[in-house]
Amino acid sequence: MPRFHGLILVLGILAALLWAELPGSSRTAALPSTGLVGTVQSADGKPMEGVAVSARAQDKNISTSVYTNQEGEYFFPPLDAGEYRMWAQAVGFELTRAEKTISSGRQIRQDFTLKPVADFSSQLSDAEWMESLPDDTPADRRMKKVIHNNCVVCHGPGFALAKRFDAAGWGVIMNTMIEKQTLPDSPNRKLLQAYKEDLIAYLTKVRGPGPSPMKRFWRRLYPWQNIGLRARRLLGILPIMGVQ
Ligand code: HEC
Repeated sequence: MPRFHGLILVLGILAALLWAELPGSSRTAALPSTGLVGTVQSADGKPMEGVAVSARAQDKNISTSVYTNQEGEYFFPPLDAGEYRMWAQAVGFELTRAEKTISSGRQIRQDFTLKPVADFSSQLSDAEWMESLPDDTPADRRMKKVIHNNCVVCHGPGFALAKRFDAAGWGVIMNTMIEKQTLPDSPNRKLLQAYKEDLIAYLTKVRGPGPSPMKRFWRRLYPWQNIGLRARRLLGILPIMGVQ
């Protein structure tokens, strides 16, 4: 029975802490006064949330990674003293490195400012490709939907959009896709045929020779994924409360 009560206590605390840290709560965590801490911001000074920051002791081959919070802040669990290599990376931004000496009992601070990379497309997963396609106008939204529903049935968006072509090049690709890859009278052929000119214009805008309006983003963590981070933080304080 006592064990059972202990479990309920732990679950209750866990629920309270998870609730307290739900996104949108106005709670701001102050950085701890000891250990490796810092912030990650973009070149325009905005805090970057959900960015992985990693540290590895020079003489070890195990790295530890943590993620930044809504304020762009990160902090590591206690690390052994020593010389560390650090790096922060987000999709669409340059890998940024640092070196730090960690000594126990002190706060060691390392802030990162990430510079955007000119062509970040090679870093994108298929889902990120779709997310980065511009959709600000009704016409753009329609083309994004057509690509999602009608181009991605045979190959991923990463394969279809990896290369850049001018309007004539996209015209050849569209003709090939329609004539060679779809069956005569199939709904997919009719739809691609109907939207052919609009698709060529959209593809040339997004993946043409000129500057691309593809959207940059770095948020790779979804709210439910943060639960793992919160649970880990909670596990860190349980021993202090005498719960093993
Ligand atoms: C019915 C299947 C199918 C559909 C629908 C389709 N494709 Fe393809 N696509 C293919 C196949 C198969 C290849 C490979 C052809 C080859 O290599 O000979 C290909 C190749 C390509 C390539 C060349 C890639 C490269 O790097 O050489 C591009 C670009 C492309 N598709 C874009 C699109 C776009 C944009 C759409 C939507 C408008 C689309 N595809 C719809 C089957 C399809």
